[in-house]
Amino acid sequence: MADTPHAGADENQRLRQQYHEIAQLAGALAHEIKNPLSVIRMNMELLAEDLGPGAGPAERRALQKVQIVQSQCHRLEHLLDSFLRFARVLPLQLSPGSLNEHISRVLDLFAPQAAAQGIAVARFLDPDLPSIMIDEQTLQAALVNLVKNAIEAMVDGGQLTARTRLTRNGVALDLIDTGCGMDPGTAMRMFEAFFSTKDGGSGLGLPMARKGIEAHGGRIDVQSELGRGTKFTLEFPMPPRLMGDEAPHRASPAGD
Ligand SMILES: Nc1ncnc2c1ncn2[C@@H]1O[C@H](COP(=O)(O)OP(=O)(O)OP(=O)(O)O)[C@@H](O)[C@H]1O
Ligand SMILES: [Mg+2]
Repeated sequence: MADTPHAGADENQRLRQQYHEIAQLAGALAHEIKNPLSVIRMNMELLAEDLGPGAGPAERRALQKVQIVQSQCHRLEHLLDSFLRFARVLPLQLSPGSLNEHISRVLDLFAPQAAAQGIAVARFLDPDLPSIMIDEQTLQAALVNLVKNAIEAMVDGGQLTARTRLTRNGVALDLIDTGCGMDPGTAMRMFEAFFSTKDGGSGLGLPMARKGIEAHGGRIDVQSELGRGTKFTLEFPMPPRLMGDEAPHRASPAGD
């Protein structure tokens, strides 16, 4: 019995290595597909220009077909870019940062789209929220995916609420939308790579967000009700030096 855990650790190590190799191979393949694909797309653009607008009916039909190929090329390029970001096997570059600042930045980015869709955005950001260790790019990408999903879930308007708060173990962000919500089947599969209920969706947004958050030692929880909305909660641990008997150090107010 004594050597069972050891054998398990070896097996884990072997599987991790195997996963790493497959992820790298898949990344390289995606990269290789991108080059010929962009040649196809560029030539389709030239062909569309040649066919031009004022042409006869046959040319117009040909132009329509070229445009379909162009839009499918765009879709494949988007899919490959998402996959490459997803498969990225790079170590995090952590530095102290403010969750308030990061979520504010992403909400600002989506403000025009939210306004155009009739979505009110409410921010309840704890001004005394302590700093956490953050890899800026990874966290930003995760938040972009979550906010984008929330906005896509509220096609007929609604409210998006972002709230940050101190928890027992660290800091948390709640992102609450009053959108379409998820049925149980969707809720079960939402973190599966390539699972999407959207036309042209890559299904990589949520798995990528979860991977990024877990790489920070954090976790992501979801509550969703069909027709009512969805709440995503992200919790990040406090760096050890900020934990202890005394009150946690507080970062300078941010996010305003
Ligand atoms: N806030 C939300 N409200 C309702 N459904 C959601 C929400 N977030 C995610 N989902 C569901 O989870 C699925 C997977 O989301 P994910 O972000 O991984 O992919 P996607 O949004 O479909 O594609 P992409 O991110 O490439 O645009 C979505 O297709 C949708 O059905
Ligand atoms: Mg998405």
